[in-house]
Amino acid sequence: MNPPPQTEVVSPGFFIPVIAIDGPSASGKGTVAQSVAGRLGFHYLDSGALYRLSALACVRRGVDLADEVAVAKQAAQLDMRFQGDQIFLFDQDVGDQIRTEQCGVDASRVAAYPALRAALEKKQREFKRLPGLVADGRDMGSVIFPDATLKIFLTATAEARAERRTKQLKEKGMYAKMHDVIEELQRRDLRDSSRSVAPLKHYPDAKLLDTTQLSIEQAVNQILDWYREISPVRAP
Ligand code: C5P
Repeated sequence: MNPPPQTEVVSPGFFIPVIAIDGPSASGKGTVAQSVAGRLGFHYLDSGALYRLSALACVRRGVDLADEVAVAKQAAQLDMRFQGDQIFLFDQDVGDQIRTEQCGVDASRVAAYPALRAALEKKQREFKRLPGLVADGRDMGSVIFPDATLKIFLTATAEARAERRTKQLKEKGMYAKMHDVIEELQRRDLRDSSRSVAPLKHYPDAKLLDTTQLSIEQAVNQILDWYREISPVRAP
C-alpha cells in the first residue's frame, strides 16, 4: 500500500478515478475496499493505518499522546513502508502491533488533532495515481478526495460490527467479550463522529451501503455496480 512509484507521475489534468469508502470501525470497509481495488486493478489506501502508525510511533518514541504539536511532528517524519500485508515503521515490521485494540484507541485519540490531520493530508493524496484509487477511512470523501468519482458510506449495526471484530480477535488468539467490544466500538464511533475536525458522518453525496445483512462479495459487487453506472467505459 505504498504510494505508487514515482515513475507513474501523472500529467496534470489527467482523469484519475477515486472511490472513497468511509464508515465506522469494523464495518468491513477495509476488506471491501481492498477487494474492489483488486477487481478494478486500482491502488489501495488504508488511511486508518497512517493514524495507527502515527500513534504507534509516538508510543515507541515516548512522545506524549496529549501533546498535539509533538504528535504532528512525529507524523510528519513517519518513515513507513507497505509491502504486501507487511507494514514497516522505521524498518521494523509492525503489521500486528498497529492492529491491536489499544493502537486503534490511541489512533482515534490523536486523530482528533487538526495538526496531525494536516500532517497526513499530503501523504494520503500521494496515493492518487493512475489507473485509479480506492481509499478507505473516515474523511476520504469529505476532506482528502472531495472530488472522488464515487463516495460510499459503508456501515453495519454496532452488534454486527462487534460480532465481526470479536471473531477477528479470536482468530488472532485474543479473547474478548462481545459486550466489551460493543462498548469500545461505540466509544470510538462517538469520538470519531463528534470531533470538530473531519468528523465521521454520512454526507448526502455518499451512497449508503449497510452491510449488516450482506456478505463481503455482495458489498463488493454493489460498489462495482455503482461504479459501472457512473463510469461504464472504464469499469471492467
Ligand atoms: O480504520 P481504523 O480503525 O484503522 O482507524 C483507526 C482510527 O484512525 C479511527 O478510529 C479514526 O479515529 C482514525 N481515522 C481517521 N480518519 C481516517 C482514518 C482513520 O480519523 N481517514
